[in-house]
Amino acid sequence: MHFEPSEEQRLIEQAARQFAAEVLRPKAAERDQKSLFPEEELRKLGELGLLGVNVPEQYGGSQAGVVAYSLALSQIAQADASVSVAMAVTNMVAEVICAFGTEEQKQKYVPRLCSGDAVAGAFALSEPQSGSDAASLKTVAEKVDGGYRLTGSKQWITSGDRAGVIVVWARTDAGAPVDKRNQAAGLSAFLVEAGTPGLVAGRPEHKLGLKGSTTVPLTLDGCFVPDSARLSKEGDGFRIAMVALDGGRIGIASQAVGIGRAALLAAKDYSKERKQFDKALCDFQAIANMLADAGTQLDAAQLLALRAAFLKESGQPFSQKAAMAKLYASEAAGRICDMALQVHGGYGYTQEFPVERYLRDVRVSRIYEGTSEIQRVVIARSVLKEFSDHAS
Ligand code: CAA
Repeated sequence: MHFEPSEEQRLIEQAARQFAAEVLRPKAAERDQKSLFPEEELRKLGELGLLGVNVPEQYGGSQAGVVAYSLALSQIAQADASVSVAMAVTNMVAEVICAFGTEEQKQKYVPRLCSGDAVAGAFALSEPQSGSDAASLKTVAEKVDGGYRLTGSKQWITSGDRAGVIVVWARTDAGAPVDKRNQAAGLSAFLVEAGTPGLVAGRPEHKLGLKGSTTVPLTLDGCFVPDSARLSKEGDGFRIAMVALDGGRIGIASQAVGIGRAALLAAKDYSKERKQFDKALCDFQAIANMLADAGTQLDAAQLLALRAAFLKESGQPFSQKAAMAKLYASEAAGRICDMALQVHGGYGYTQEFPVERYLRDVRVSRIYEGTSEIQRVVIARSVLKEFSDHAS
């Protein structure tokens, strides 16, 4: 494992850093305060090749790998977490189509996702009554002549009202008796295009943070999709979701690292400027210790994210390490944002400084793409397995 990024990784990170500083940061507060969706910014990210960093060139991606993706996403999140979540989900959808799609599906959707022409991709797994217990979802895909009719409700869908293509999970085992059903084995995944008759996005949620990103419920009212819209074979849906989420969790860890870094930099700058009792705040050991702890935790979070990215990129198992990275980075970044606000005192509690936005934005990273509790389930299962492997 190398601790130095390659020239290509550095260039991608540099492109993301420059775009973040010049284009995203100046208007991030306004997008937050007015809940403005960053459509133009996503198109520009596409032009720079940052919507498909880990997507093969033949489908319009940059083919720079998962480590480069993690570095780039952190830079974008450092300037505007709302843009980074749309970028992360779009990347996840492009990757899932590349991994499980037919050649026709890849050619039809992936270049549009990478260029920003599709605006964004969306991932419609969760439902009003099934979040952590994803396999219990109830949306039905009824087989009809030439395709399927999808009927059900989806909840918490990032960019669901803006995305050009949405991966929708539904039951293809709806006829089987409920007590005999293997819930996970009854799921399939479908590519549903924006504008499909019967697909309706509800009112965007009023959220604590990530106000520049939209989160909507979706209703599928007998939406017809052709057979060619099914990803992989019937019954493969749960595995597809889990594989996608394993990779997605590296994205959320990287996003948390970016928000945490923004908060730490803000705290550092403010603690050097602000004087009390004739000394800069950073000259009080209490404050310096906060910065020291935050710096250490941020480094640990980034190392975990990069290790998971490296494992995925080199084709090794990474599910447990991605869960560890997501768990640790999201919780550490939350502590760092809270610390940054504390260092700013009363000013930090106002919109005059960006730290209150960082604290609001970072909170959801402990919830989406699997809560911290679910990450612990994933980690515990593999730790228990490792131990039993050692015993045998
Ligand atoms: N890779 C491949 N296959 C996997 C897998 C993985 N990581 N994890 C599980 N599977 C397979 C299992 O091997 C099993 O297959 P077999 O039956 O053939 O053995 C099958 O899937 C079922 O697995 P489990 O019994 O482990 O399933 P479970 O019901 O106990 O659930 C879970 C496991 C980890 C809790 C899972 O439900 C989960 O991750 N829940 C959280 C869901 C989540 O993260 N939702 C986020 C929503 S999307 C989002 O937030 C995006 C956004 O917009 C920002």
